[in-house]
Amino acid sequence: MKKRIFSGAQPTGELHIGNYLGALKNWVALQDEYESFFCIVNLHAVTLPQKPEVLKQKSLDLARIYLASGINPEKSTVFIQSDVSEHAELAWILSCVARMGELERMTQFKDKGKGNAERAGVGLFTYPILMAADILLYQTDLVPVGQDQKQHLELTRDLATRFNRDFGETFVVPEPFIPPIGANILSLQEPTKKMSKSDENANGSIFLLDDADTITKKFKKAVTDSGTEITFDESRPAIKNLLTIYQLMTGKTAEECEANFVGKGYGHFKTETAEAVIEFLKPFQQRVKDYSDEDLREILKTGAAKARAIARETLTDVYAKMGIVGAAN
Ligand code: TYM
Repeated sequence: MKKRIFSGAQPTGELHIGNYLGALKNWVALQDEYESFFCIVNLHAVTLPQKPEVLKQKSLDLARIYLASGINPEKSTVFIQSDVSEHAELAWILSCVARMGELERMTQFKDKGKGNAERAGVGLFTYPILMAADILLYQTDLVPVGQDQKQHLELTRDLATRFNRDFGETFVVPEPFIPPIGANILSLQEPTKKMSKSDENANGSIFLLDDADTITKKFKKAVTDSGTEITFDESRPAIKNLLTIYQLMTGKTAEECEANFVGKGYGHFKTETAEAVIEFLKPFQQRVKDYSDEDLREILKTGAAKARAIARETLTDVYAKMGIVGAAN
């Protein structure tokens, strides 16, 4: 039996190279070795206000991006979260297992709620519980994500362990898979912050669908550190970030990357990095055009049916263990 992976992304904003390098790239690499589930988490998306028409279109567009990245729907299960209502059901159960205190410690809630808990949506607060439900429904072994999701994964593990202790072995306790390089791609404008879909300054992010001109301009404007050396140096996060992007886009080793820029200036470095990204994104952007909405809906329907069967099995077990039995059974 193959081990399982589960991961997902929110259909909000535009996906950027941080999402790709921190998450999608690894999903693609792992899908042969693992039985894989890749979800479009539209229920998570509504924890912040969304325009209904935009959310609907973005959900399909995200499926397109998964496939263009190299997710193979013949091998992996790709589906939309709201098509499998077990996610919301298990989230309720887990909300009765989670503690207020552990949710209050979630740094993403503090960031996204802008420190104002009084005004924040309750869904934003309970967001990590729904994420735990996503993962635990599939008896997931490994969850490939970027660094920013690590704390949510720790909560997921805690909830699974607590449930297993209180009601008997039910859930696999999942491990995070956080890549050693690329798990935290930083904003090109503020290299102390992660590159983010919700950043108001679009120059901070390279979106997967940006055209060549835009990419060149964004790299030209990228903030750098003082000094002139182009090396992987922790104390110079802007340069390290650009060099990491260059490394992952070209597939070179760290030594090769540093050697490539010995004696070269920042201007040259930025141009070459922009070119590497443009080259990499060209075939990806071509593949995005390959899928019609109709093709995608078919793939997503098949995916939801496969996912639902497994999710229902887990939920039935959960309900039985807890004594949640209706008149029908
Ligand atoms: P989301 O949609 O914010 O991001 C999708 C994936 O991209 C990673 N990521 C990054 N990696 C490196 N550098 C960055 N700057 C960067 N920004 C984002 C994220 O870590 C993520 O892996 N809560 C999740 C979605 C989710 C989920 C799940 C993930 C819901 N349920 C179950 C895994 C398992 C989120 O908002 O991802």
